[in-house]
Formats: sequence, C-alpha cells, structure tokens
Amino acid sequence: MPEAIDSNPLDALRHDRERARHAEDPNWSLGWLATVDADGVARVRTLVLREVGEALAVFTDASSPKWRELERSGRCEVATWFPSVRRQYRLQARPRPLARDVLEAHWRNRPEGGRVLDFLHARVLRQSEPVPGRRWLRERFDAEREALADGAWERRMPANVHAFVLDVERIERLTLDDELGLHDRRRWHPGPRGWEEQTLMP
Ligand SMILES: Cc1cc2nc3c(=O)[nH]c(=O)nc-3n(C[C@H](O)[C@H](O)[C@H](O)COP(=O)(O)O)c2cc1C
Repeated sequence: MPEAIDSNPLDALRHDRERARHAEDPNWSLGWLATVDADGVARVRTLVLREVGEALAVFTDASSPKWRELERSGRCEVATWFPSVRRQYRLQARPRPLARDVLEAHWRNRPEGGRVLDFLHARVLRQSEPVPGRRWLRERFDAEREALADGAWERRMPANVHAFVLDVERIERLTLDDELGLHDRRRWHPGPRGWEEQTLMP
C-alpha cells in the first residue's frame, strides 16, 4: 500500500474496502456495530457501511433499539473483517445524524422492499418489535406495497428513516501477516499533526 494512504487509517480502510470489493469479498461493504443498552448490556449487529463523501454512514430506522442506544450514549464501535485482505479494523466513533436532504437523495434509490419496510415501521410497528407471526406481517407488507404501487411512492420519506455518519475518534487495525502469529497491530488517534500511530501487542 502507498505510504501516503497507510499514514491515514481512514484512507487505508477505504483502500482495503475497495481491494476487498474487487476480490468479491462478501464482507467488503459490511461492519458490525456495537452499542450498549439501557441495562449496560452489549448489543451487536451486522450493517452495511456506505460511503457518503469522505465518511462512512449507516442507514437505519429511528424506531430501532440501536438508534435509541446511539442517542443515549453518543458512542459506538464498528468492526470490519475482510478475509480477502486479511485485515480487521475497529472504529471507535461518535454517530452524527446525516443531513436530511442527503439522506432523502439516497433513500429515493433504496430497493422497493426496503422502502415498504420503512413505511411499515412508520405506520404499523417499530423495527425489532415482536409481531403476531410471519403471515400477519406478510399481509401488512403486501397491503403497504399495493398502496405504494398506486402512486403513493411519491409520498415523502417517512420521518423514522435515518442515517448516521461515523465521526471516527480512534482506529485499530490488525493485519494477519505473520505465519508464526506475530501479526501487525496498530492504533491511531488524532494528534496535533494528524493521526498518531502506535504499534500494539498483537
Ligand atoms: C448483511 C446484513 C446487512 C444489514 N444491513 C443493515 C443496514 O444497513 N441497516 C439496518 O438498520 N439493519 C441492517 N441489517 C439488520 C441488522 O443486523 C439488525 O437486524 C436490525 O437493524 C435491527 O437491529 P436492532 O434491533 O439492534 O436495532 C443488516 C443485516 C444483515 C445480515
């Protein structure tokens, strides 16, 4: 990797995601978002990490538990693992809501099923709530989809649709590159002259 890229860990992550995408790595776009719930219990789930300008963003629903957890603590951690490039990243970040106009522009290109779910979250049930069953849910999904097929797609994006940008405060990277196990582990945090790098015990 060119040295200029490697001295900025966010550029390095972007570069590695691109390498993983070219290698058809199934993880190239994914991350695992960890939060802490109101009882202090860790919660983790898979999400798509999207590039919005220079930043990484997550598109989700404000009716979800994760959104409440992010709002309460104002902190999160995201991990990625790209087997094709043998690298793990861990990002400690503050989530910052994405501007509504940018979000709306992305939302217009969201696949149909995702938009139907967005309207269901707004009108029927919050994300992650228990439902009476799959059949009950399918009926409501189909009804919503039919209503939208009658031109209601022009309805405005529901208010519960949200996205947050990761304002990254600390990055750690582990490269599995040593056959005896002495792998390359580094951590960066912002310093007065840009990112400061430390080598960590693997
Ligand atoms: C491959 C994959 C990609 C996913 N991408 C997203 C996503 O971009 N946004 C999202 O809200 N949930 C996504 N999910 C679903 C979440 O993992 C999770 O089930 C959901 O957001 C509810 O999480 P919560 O109850 O912790 O709020 C994805 C799941 C998988 C398996």
